[in-house]
Amino acid sequence: MGECLLEISQLGKTFGKHKVLHNVNLKVAKGEVFGFLGPNGAGKTTLIRVVLGLIRPDCGSILINGFNLQTNFRRAIEHVGAVVETPKFYPQLTAYQNLLLVKNLHRSLHKNRIGEVLELTGLIARAHDKVGTFSLGMKQRLGIARALLNYPKIIFLDEPMNGLDPQGIIEVRSLIHHLRQQGITLFITSHLLHEVEQVCDRIAIIKNGTIIAQGNLTDLLRSDCEVVEIYTKDILETYNALAGVAFVHKCTINQSSLLVELDKGSTEHLIPFLVRRNLHLQYVILRKYSLEDFFMQLASKEGNL
Ligand SMILES: Nc1ncnc2c1ncn2[C@@H]1O[C@H](COP(=O)(O)OP(=O)(O)OP(=O)(O)O)[C@@H](O)[C@H]1O
Ligand SMILES: [Mg+2]
Repeated sequence: MGECLLEISQLGKTFGKHKVLHNVNLKVAKGEVFGFLGPNGAGKTTLIRVVLGLIRPDCGSILINGFNLQTNFRRAIEHVGAVVETPKFYPQLTAYQNLLLVKNLHRSLHKNRIGEVLELTGLIARAHDKVGTFSLGMKQRLGIARALLNYPKIIFLDEPMNGLDPQGIIEVRSLIHHLRQQGITLFITSHLLHEVEQVCDRIAIIKNGTIIAQGNLTDLLRSDCEVVEIYTKDILETYNALAGVAFVHKCTINQSSLLVELDKGSTEHLIPFLVRRNLHLQYVILRKYSLEDFFMQLASKEGNL
């Protein structure tokens, strides 16, 4: 892991008697896209609120860019941007006017910065349209534009793709890639595992306030077996032929195919093995071990996630 931009140590938070965060330890490196996952009510938004200084933790420490949030709040929060849940704007004002209101709160910012962030988020052509006419995806991007005003080094995005249509999801995804290229570190919560897999470098999974997995996505998804899907008209015969084969771990019949889990690298032996038995193969497709598979495996170990 490279230089650390956010370091959370032994963080705890209780609401009444309810322990919402328990001994949370997290490190986010400069320049990476970090995915923070977990089921509803696991504590994701609470963690973001604590890191933004909106609620006080009971214990633990938070360092942002080397500054302690509790003892040096101003310096720690100076280069932080965030979009927590659905961003709110004045619908009767234009995108530009909405951002101008925020810019005026920061004396050091120049007006030109508004144009820059609208350009970055692909909204420059709509700068002078009322926000009331914007789609949810455009409001989400305007939220990100607002978070970018203050030249943040790290941006927290809480469920940035929630409620967006496929086009909106694609736009936010490419914006995340674009911000990453600009050297901005991103901390994202999301339930959309397929999206997380496409944009994140590292992830952590939280359940009932406790981190149950954390690491580099490539390492977490590295597996010692591979899975292939076989399409054949001889489903039962193929299933029976695979029973007891040493390199096959598991075989399941799907509606119109077979799902075979086998030793890594042994697909090349599987195909000639089946052909020699005169089984008619239509397609053999290698299935990538996905974040969803990882999540399901973890869920079966940990009880429902
Ligand atoms: N201000 C509060 N007072 C009391 N309980 C709270 C408060 N904020 C959150 N909680 C509780 O803390 C737990 C974690 O909530 P949080 O919003 O952090 O979950 P989340 O992981 O963001 O869930 P989701 O995926 O639904 O957004 C929930 O049980 C919630 O009811
Ligand atoms: Mg939440």
